[in-house]
Amino acid sequence: MDIRWTRENNRYKKKGQTLKMPRFDITIAGELNLDLIFYGLPDELPPERELLADRMMLTLGGSSAILAHNLSALGSRVGFQTRIGDDDLGENALLRLQQSGVDVSEVRRVPGPVKTGLTVILQRAAWRNIVTYSGTIAETTWDDLDLAYLADSRHFHVSSYYLQSGLRPRVVELFRKMKEAGLTTSLDTNDDPDDKWEGGLQDVLRYVDVFLPNEREAQKATGVSDLETAVKKLAALVPLVVVKLGREGATAQRGTERFTSPAFRVEAVDPVGAGDSFDAGFLHEYVRGADLAACLAAGNLAGAFSTTRPGGTEAFRDAKYRTQFFQEQKLQQGL
Ligand SMILES: Nc1ncnc2c1ncn2[C@@H]1O[C@H](COP(=O)(O)OP(=O)(O)O)[C@@H](O)[C@H]1O
Ligand SMILES: [Mg+2]
Repeated sequence: MDIRWTRENNRYKKKGQTLKMPRFDITIAGELNLDLIFYGLPDELPPERELLADRMMLTLGGSSAILAHNLSALGSRVGFQTRIGDDDLGENALLRLQQSGVDVSEVRRVPGPVKTGLTVILQRAAWRNIVTYSGTIAETTWDDLDLAYLADSRHFHVSSYYLQSGLRPRVVELFRKMKEAGLTTSLDTNDDPDDKWEGGLQDVLRYVDVFLPNEREAQKATGVSDLETAVKKLAALVPLVVVKLGREGATAQRGTERFTSPAFRVEAVDPVGAGDSFDAGFLHEYVRGADLAACLAAGNLAGAFSTTRPGGTEAFRDAKYRTQFFQEQKLQQGL
């Protein structure tokens, strides 16, 4: 692809033409909600008893919102579109996203009985209950989106393909329009709660430049039970497949080329949002034109960083901690 960006004069070259720099590096159409996490509850929850948690945390939730937040914290210019309810929790989620620098001017607040989504996590020592009210997550539709806003960007991304049931029927069209407008594109399906892996995913992948599943999702999306076959099948559909492998790091296939990159060693306290943070690290570098090895290392670094604090954005929100962690890790790795 013959695109050369020059930030200095806000212009870039594409196929010999000089064009105006788009408003955003990355636009995201996705879901925005909060996670409420309780700690210290007993394993058994008997009915009609008042059970006391010893700690709680309210934090930004939703894969799309976590990705947007962390991309912005890394310095990308991010535009975000979604629908939320006209309620306090939605307002709080929006504020958190905005505080990271994400443009939320086109987020739609829709009054009515459907409220902004909320996930309640009852965290025990080694396991958790997860209860979700999906609310506006599943209600966001094509009509909530402004295509001109989304297209005024270098790159377009969708996360949580299966949770966004209101948007899903037109996601192929959405990706096609973004490709026609000249953007590069990426998709992270995350899990399918119905575990069916249908809904036209193969059609969407035709318009996707970077597909970012984890190991299980790569296998489920292709209907096979070994990673190698899954990666080969996906690489026949998309130019770049990046598979997240938890504490093993990540692997990528671009045509016939294979790249792997080890995880960073950290004291992980919470895996929530690690995959979304990996996407943030990876895409931040990808959009700047970095080589694949650098994109993978940046993904692993951001994923590892996220696990060092609860939730998906708590580590990234702390600018001092973030700067210190990134400097230390990069020094250790000689990056
Ligand atoms: N325990 C860990 N130590 C270091 N890095 C981790 C750890 N868990 C996850 N990561 C990083 O986060 C990325 C995403 O995690 P993973 O669990 O594979 O994705 P998802 O959250 O989508 O399931 C990994 O590729 C890795 O870079
Ligand atoms: Mg994920």
